[in-house]
Amino acid sequence: MNARLLPIAFALAAGGCAAWRLWGEIPVSTGPAAAEEIPQAPEERRKAALFYSDLGPDEIDVSSYPAEKRREYGVYVRVCSRCHSLARSVNAPYVDRSWWEFYLASMRMRAHFHGEPLGKTDVKAVLDFLDYDASRRKIGRAAEFKALKIELERRFEAALDERMEQLQKRPLPHRPR
Ligand code: HEC
Repeated sequence: MNARLLPIAFALAAGGCAAWRLWGEIPVSTGPAAAEEIPQAPEERRKAALFYSDLGPDEIDVSSYPAEKRREYGVYVRVCSRCHSLARSVNAPYVDRSWWEFYLASMRMRAHFHGEPLGKTDVKAVLDFLDYDASRRKIGRAAEFKALKIELERRFEAALDERMEQLQKRPLPHRPR
């Protein structure tokens, strides 16, 4: 190689290595659902979480949904946040209408015993909403929804570890002999 080109070759190689190192540090963006952009659930919700989905957002931006779907969203919010956070279904992985039909059948029974029966028209509105919303958000923006799921699962695991640690710190119950 021409001796005058050597420093240039060297500089190019060094630059390439630096670029490579930087490349490795660029965080992978997963769109609006990037981990740090997902708001933390309030503490009571973190403590009481039974499903990873409990730790996610508890509302849906329906501003771009058709009027009928926005109306159904109102029913969904009213009916499905009675016993647990709406987050549980907002972030649930299910997209299949028959799954929700099956689920809502048992939910109706539960609500009945709870003394607040779920009406047929409300159930239909909720199902129609869940169906439409799944197509828009869970299927239509699948990559983003998947990134959300992965992050919530990670947080749920951490929350469980934290709870386990708290339990282990508690004094053992006194056992009389
Ligand atoms: C009467 C109280 C009650 C109402 C009303 C209620 N839920 Fe639930 N839901 C529960 C309980 C309790 C659980 C946890 C135990 C279980 O899954 O059996 C649960 C669990 C869930 C789960 C997690 C199930 C799983 O296995 O992944 C989803 C999703 C859910 N509810 C969605 C809804 C939706 C959607 C509505 C509105 C139609 C609703 N819930 C209304 C009591 C209720």
